[in-house]
Amino acid sequence: MSEFVLEVRGLCKGYGVVPNRVEVLNGIDLELNQGAFEAVMGPSGSGKSTLLHLLAGLLAADSGEVTLGGVKVTTMSDAEVTVFRRRRIGLVFQDFNLIPTLSAEENIVLPLLLDKRRPDRGELDALLARLNLTARRSHLPSQLSGGERQRVAIARALVTRPAIVLADEPTGNLDSPAGRAFCDTLRMINSDDGVTILMVSHDPVVTAAANRVHLLKDGEFVGNFGTESDAALVSQRYLEIMKG
Ligand SMILES: Nc1ncnc2c1ncn2[C@@H]1O[C@H](COP(=O)(O)OP(=O)(O)O)[C@@H](O)[C@H]1O
Ligand SMILES: [Mg+2]
Repeated sequence: MSEFVLEVRGLCKGYGVVPNRVEVLNGIDLELNQGAFEAVMGPSGSGKSTLLHLLAGLLAADSGEVTLGGVKVTTMSDAEVTVFRRRRIGLVFQDFNLIPTLSAEENIVLPLLLDKRRPDRGELDALLARLNLTARRSHLPSQLSGGERQRVAIARALVTRPAIVLADEPTGNLDSPAGRAFCDTLRMINSDDGVTILMVSHDPVVTAAANRVHLLKDGEFVGNFGTESDAALVSQRYLEIMKG
């Protein structure tokens, strides 16, 4: 049994057919410990979203393996992976992906209802309070700010107590103050609640919130380093390794 929450081995993925075939990921290896907060950084088009979609089983890999919480995601059927994702993976996207006709609270508990589970009132109240959403629980997404919408999305990701939270450019649609605040929220749920997080972003200010950054270039990881929560350092190391 693996000691890692997430284990990725030789993951490859391309799109299209020859002669228009594009190889995007050419053998990705990654290991994440329980309680880690790490980030994947790379330029636009480097395959960050593709990687996250593969990890969540939203896309099928061409080859390689993804093991999450000791369970091999890459060999599951579509039906199996749908249930597994709902129970074990919290997903946060750039565009929030909230259901516009449901209130904040209804969006948050949806993964439980889809799984025929009843939300625990006390736990839900605590989660809303923790994310500063108590006064917004009955609001529709259209009545919320971008930062509030993304907090609803992270609450929805956390409500099932997942093995890992995967976040794809989670601050991409937020202004800088809201983006910084959201990074602080991620740090809080990681350091205080021990939630394991893997985030992808091209932005050093955002990835500096993680403890370690892995650099994606030409379909491979070309280096990784500790961020020391310092965006200038991340930016400098990023440029050094990308040039090298
Ligand atoms: N469904 C798809 N069909 C064909 N090409 C795709 C598809 N999705 C992504 N790509 C291509 O794969 C590459 C990586 O995309 P993506 O994973 O979205 O990168 P990133 O998130 O780092 O910007 C890009 O060149 C993109 O055009
Ligand atoms: Mg992307």
